This record gives sequence, C-alpha cells and structure tokens, in this order.
Amino acid sequence: MSSFFGNHLRLSLFGQSHGEAIGMTMDGFPAGMTIDLRRLEEEMARRAPGQSRLTTSRKEPDQPEFLSGVLNGVTTGQPLCAIIRNTNTRSQDYGSGVDLVRPGHADYTGHIRYGGFEDWRGGGHFSGRLTAPLVVAGTLCRQWLEAQGVEILCHIQRLGRVEDASLMDADLPVDGAELRSQALPVLRSELAAAMEAEILAARSASDSVGGVLECMVTGLPAGLGAPFFDSVESVLSHLMFAIPAVKGVAFGEGFGFAALRGSEANDAFRMSDRGTVTATNHAGGINGGISNGMPVIFRCVVRATPSIALAQQTISLREGKNAELSVHGRHDPCILPRAVPVVEAMTAIGLMELWKERAAWVR
Ligand SMILES: Cc1cc2nc3c(=O)[nH]c(=O)nc-3n(C[C@H](O)[C@H](O)[C@H](O)COP(=O)(O)O)c2cc1C
Repeated sequence: MSSFFGNHLRLSLFGQSHGEAIGMTMDGFPAGMTIDLRRLEEEMARRAPGQSRLTTSRKEPDQPEFLSGVLNGVTTGQPLCAIIRNTNTRSQDYGSGVDLVRPGHADYTGHIRYGGFEDWRGGGHFSGRLTAPLVVAGTLCRQWLEAQGVEILCHIQRLGRVEDASLMDADLPVDGAELRSQALPVLRSELAAAMEAEILAARSASDSVGGVLECMVTGLPAGLGAPFFDSVESVLSHLMFAIPAVKGVAFGEGFGFAALRGSEANDAFRMSDRGTVTATNHAGGINGGISNGMPVIFRCVVRATPSIALAQQTISLREGKNAELSVHGRHDPCILPRAVPVVEAMTAIGLMELWKERAAWVR
C-alpha cells in the first residue's frame, strides 16, 4: 500500500486535486496537545498557491477541518483526521480525460499503473496539492517536537544558477522565524532578488526552473534511528522522495564525501559543556543511521516544474500517435518556495516516527 507511512505514527494520505477533498489520518499522535492554530494557518499559507507573483495564480484557502482526534482544540490521542475541501478546480485546464500526456509528469505512468481508471483531473493523486494535508500532519508533529526542544528549518540553497550559502558552514547564524517569513527563504538575503529574477525569467520564457532545498534539525538528542531499515537517513529520505518533484536527497557532505579522505571526512568527538559533540559535522548529525546529537543537515534536489507552456513532444494516448503539447493551466514556474514548508513538515513526521520508535524500544 502506497498511501500509508510509519509503524509507530501511522499516517495515511487521501484525495485528488480536483476531487471533493484531500486529507490525512494520523494514528498514534499523543493526547493533550493544544493545537497552535495560528501556526498551522501560517504553515498552510506558506505552502498555498497564489501567495506571491512567484507562484501559480491559482488561489486555494487550504483551510483544514478536523473531523476527529481533536476536542476543544486539544488532541485526544485517537485517530486524527483532517480534510481540506477543494474549492478552486478548473478541470478544463487539463482537457477531458488523459490524452496528451505531460512529459515529466505522472500522466503516462499513472495511466499505465491504474489502467485508465485514475482520477486524472488536475494531476489527481499525483498533484502537489496532496502536500497540503502533509503540512497539516507535519505542523502538528513539529509543534510536539518543538516542545521537546527540536527545531527544523529549511532554505533555498540553490535556485537555477543562483547559489545561497550552506548550513554545513558551521558558524552561520540562522534565524528560523526570519527564514519562515521570507517568500524566498535564503541565508544570504541579498540573493533573494537574483532568485526571483531566475523564476520570472523562466516564466517569461514559458519555462520553469528547479534547485536545491537544504534542511537542518537542531536539538535532536543522540540515539534516534534504528539500522538497517529505519536509519534516520532511510526514514527521512523515504519521506522526501514522497514529495512530488524531489529527485535526490543527500545527508551531510553527501556526494562530496567522494572526494574526502577518511581523515578529512571523520568528525572528531570532543567533550564540551553541552556533553559529547563533534568538532566538525561532515556526517550531518548521523552515524550508523543513528542521530549523534549534532544538527541533522540534508539537501533535496527539486526538479523544474514539469507543466510548461513551451511546446514539447509527447504522445496522444487516444490516437496512439506522436503529438505536440504546450500546457496552459495555472502552474508554478518554480516549485521550490512552496516545497520549503513541505520538506519541513515531512522532516517533522519522520522525526516523530523515529522518536516514537525509540520510546517503544527503550525500557
Ligand atoms: C508544492 C508542489 C507544487 C507543485 N506544483 C506543480 C505544478 O503547478 N505543475 C506541475 O506540473 N507540477 C507541480 N508539482 C510537481 C508534480 O506534482 C510532480 O513533478 C509530478 O507529480 C511528477 O512526479 P515526479 O516529479 O516526482 O516524478 C508540484 C510539486 C509540489 C511539491
């Protein structure tokens, strides 16, 4: 089954972009947490389309409704179900039934997998819209984790040709709240204008642009993660690859490890007033699949949006012939700004699963 995640926090995702509603159920979420509704609204707004001229003009309020698991604003510990009604759907943007399959999108593979019975409207179950309920689930997990001292932040490390600084540079001061308030969250704020120009240039060329998101978790205790299959890297990358358009994930130095000798790659252990630390953090806070107490740092590559107005070669499923397609619906010229809160939310879901796994195991 593909729409379930987790063994200790059981999350399921349902709905299609242009169906009645999208939503999630989460089983195993702790009782007694007063949901911070203002924060939830903020996170939903960060992911929602139509927030700035850099995203699609499609406007969706993305208001979650809790159907169960919450009483008087407090979690009950019972299965938590939230839905978001779809209000802004224009299936004519996508024609009637899948015919010309969008290169780079899931139209062709979804059609093959589900034998033509798939809900194709607006990308159906493959749409980026399905990340809205994931942000609901992730924001609740994040609030719970923050109460344990865990902070998650993410920035756009690269957009097209513009590269921001990296969180791997240890001495960088980072203000999570400040990052969250930016339309294009970057560490070197002077780069936001150049990134914006990349997005606008791609859009005016009827094209799209991709990049890299970098995420950091601080305050995570040592000892989370269970090798082999539930290593911190396995769990987080499982969730990252579930985000539509994520094409690569790397922890710490990632592929940069290829060029480092052991003496350069190893992080020396030291005793400090904070307890055991490492002098460097090439490993991105994880050894042997288990958190070592240092910041967990990873990057995700996000491809350029598949739906573009530029003419492209494809096939007609109905006619079984080669064809040409330009996509004219309301699409993001760049997915990155809206994917930032999704990466943070998915990180929180994964960490909560690992936290609960450890709690179940430690006697
Ligand atoms: C927040 C978000 C918004 C997205 N918006 C669009 C969009 O407007 N148009 C589009 O073609 N793809 C969009 N995508 C990406 C597609 O859903 C994705 O590329 C497609 O499902 C194929 O999956 P894959 O890229 O993982 O192979 C978005 C993804 C995310 C995470």
